[in-house]
Amino acid sequence: MNLFNVYPRFNITLTKGKGVYVYDDQHQKYLDLYGGHGVISIGHSHPTYVNKLKEQIDVIGYYSNSIQMPIQEELALKLAQQSAYPQHKLFLCNSGAEANENAIKLASFHTNKKKVVAFKGSFHGRTAAALNVTDNAKLSAPININNFPVDFVELNNKEQLVIALKDNDVCAVIVEGIQGVGGLDAPSEDYLSFLAEHCKKSGALLIIDEIQSGFGRTGKFFAHQHANITADIVTIAKGMGNGFPIGGLLIHCKIKASYGLLGTTFGGNHLACAASLAVLETLESESLLSNVQEVSKYLEHELNGIPAIKTIKGKGLMLGVEFDFPIKEMRSLLLNDYHIFTGASANPNLLRILPPLGITKQQMQPFITALKKILS
Ligand SMILES: Cc1ncc(COP(=O)(O)O)c(C=O)c1O
Repeated sequence: MNLFNVYPRFNITLTKGKGVYVYDDQHQKYLDLYGGHGVISIGHSHPTYVNKLKEQIDVIGYYSNSIQMPIQEELALKLAQQSAYPQHKLFLCNSGAEANENAIKLASFHTNKKKVVAFKGSFHGRTAAALNVTDNAKLSAPININNFPVDFVELNNKEQLVIALKDNDVCAVIVEGIQGVGGLDAPSEDYLSFLAEHCKKSGALLIIDEIQSGFGRTGKFFAHQHANITADIVTIAKGMGNGFPIGGLLIHCKIKASYGLLGTTFGGNHLACAASLAVLETLESESLLSNVQEVSKYLEHELNGIPAIKTIKGKGLMLGVEFDFPIKEMRSLLLNDYHIFTGASANPNLLRILPPLGITKQQMQPFITALKKILS
């Protein structure tokens, strides 16, 4: 049987990963500044992660949500402490799209409304509701069209937001902490405060998608915490499991749970929780949030010294390096000649950098050197 061919793939077969490096079947070492779409948070095959998963699978790997799951409670407690969302409740699922799907559904259940406000340039996933609030018509099949009404407004445009919310018929506004796939545009701190205030006024729930920007990636636990606001629902995935599939929702306690309201077979299984606990433990024990701030400052300083770079977007270790020309060729050179993985986005001129959060300044250096050589 052949694979259903939906992915353009590099001709590279990885056989090993360690920290910020991955190795192919020819023993070639690569610096991983992309973490397979921003997934690798604490590093490839981190010993805490490996040991925790091994210990867990030795005793029990899976059972459904029909029994007591102390490991989920342990994860919820740790997440509450580290994320500074002590009163929110946790629902666990398996991926980013699924987290957003459940968040939108929950907002509609809670408000009994069905219109959603989303943003130009957004990406929230490929399941029905998540796709409907994603600003990319090419991803929609005929069955996805007009699923429920969505107003797409421009990021940081207050007037458009006020108009979209004026009839008080919106169940949720969904916004990324920093846009990932769209190209690293972000709501300003002032705009986020405006957004939170206007959601409250109109009765819409504020959903912040921290699937890519969360779990310490920007130097705070969540990107929106640079703005001192809170969300009604925060969606999480990617770095949460360091490669183990897990997603989740932090849900305001005013949103009431009832049996059967949400559900999943695999969500919150023992192994997934063990993976996420290892991530949280390591974020703390290795002070990874401070490391993100420090390495990011260094990287921005070094990049600012390269004249060909037009803008540096994003925060922490979720950065977009924008040029006046398409980066496709540069990205291939970085990978094939310098053995450095980087990412692309909807903006063809923007190189996306999402390294493991424990990367050091020294480990970053080959990237700076390579960029300078390519651009000279
Ligand atoms: C901000 C954001 N939300 C949602 C998703 C969807 O996540 P998943 O691919 O795990 O369904 C992504 C994936 O890139 C994302 O970047």
